[in-house]
Amino acid sequence: MLKIEALNVAYGAVQVLHDVAFEVPPGRIVGVLGANGAGKSTLLRTISRLVPARSGHIRFKDQDLLRLAAHQVPRLGIAHVPEGRHVFHNLSVRDNLVLGDYVGRSRSRGGREAQLEAVFAMFPRLYERREQLAGSLSGGEQQMLVLGRALMLQPELLMLDEPSLGLAPIVVEEVFQRLEAVHREMGVSILLVEQNAVQAMDLIEYAILLENGRVTFSGPKEAMAQSTFLQEAYLGVREM
Ligand SMILES: Nc1ncnc2c1ncn2[C@@H]1O[C@H](COP(=O)(O)OP(=O)(O)O)[C@@H](O)[C@H]1O
Ligand SMILES: [Mg+2]
Repeated sequence: MLKIEALNVAYGAVQVLHDVAFEVPPGRIVGVLGANGAGKSTLLRTISRLVPARSGHIRFKDQDLLRLAAHQVPRLGIAHVPEGRHVFHNLSVRDNLVLGDYVGRSRSRGGREAQLEAVFAMFPRLYERREQLAGSLSGGEQQMLVLGRALMLQPELLMLDEPSLGLAPIVVEEVFQRLEAVHREMGVSILLVEQNAVQAMDLIEYAILLENGRVTFSGPKEAMAQSTFLQEAYLGVREM
């Protein structure tokens, strides 16, 4: 579904991604794991066309994303949830969700109200708080809200940048459980970027390990369990 080949990305003279290659098969959950500064956010921003690629290919369902402008990417069905839980604090939960379909995909795909209902069914807590200002939600609830907002696009690929950042482990578990349900019930493929490898391992099916902008492992997560990176992460030896 998403295929990345020989991708090189630089900020000025500083190269950040080196020959990155991997695939997200349809209907799968792929995790890109790596330490702070490895280039994970740059990777997602490159797919979304927010950062230019120096060379390489990014194909999504046979479209060459590198030929498209940033505003065309969500129209294809790729939703990008950036780091940092950016909600509109002074708008209600409901209005935050409605703004999620800013390209009007739902108009042609079953209607906005129907999609809103589907999102509320996935996140009952958002339904309970639909008239509440988004700024008054807890961190975990705000993470649910940005997930729900992305789903308003009816995406085929959901890209998430460190949804666990700054949340307590128990809240992360809840967010990941919701994600699993979204994947199962809505059939959406997920590309999850995380430095929290230990918690992400439960959710993902395939793992890509990104170290200093290079892919050093790619395969089923079970095969990654042997890696020293992961062992150190579990032991807490490595600062992730
Ligand atoms: N806009 C930018 N301009 C210059 N360098 C950047 C920019 N954004 C990120 N970088 C650098 O690129 C590297 C990778 O950053 P990033 O993709 O944010 O990593 P990660 O998300 O894995 O923490 C880091 O060294 C970071 O300092
Ligand atoms: Mg990042």
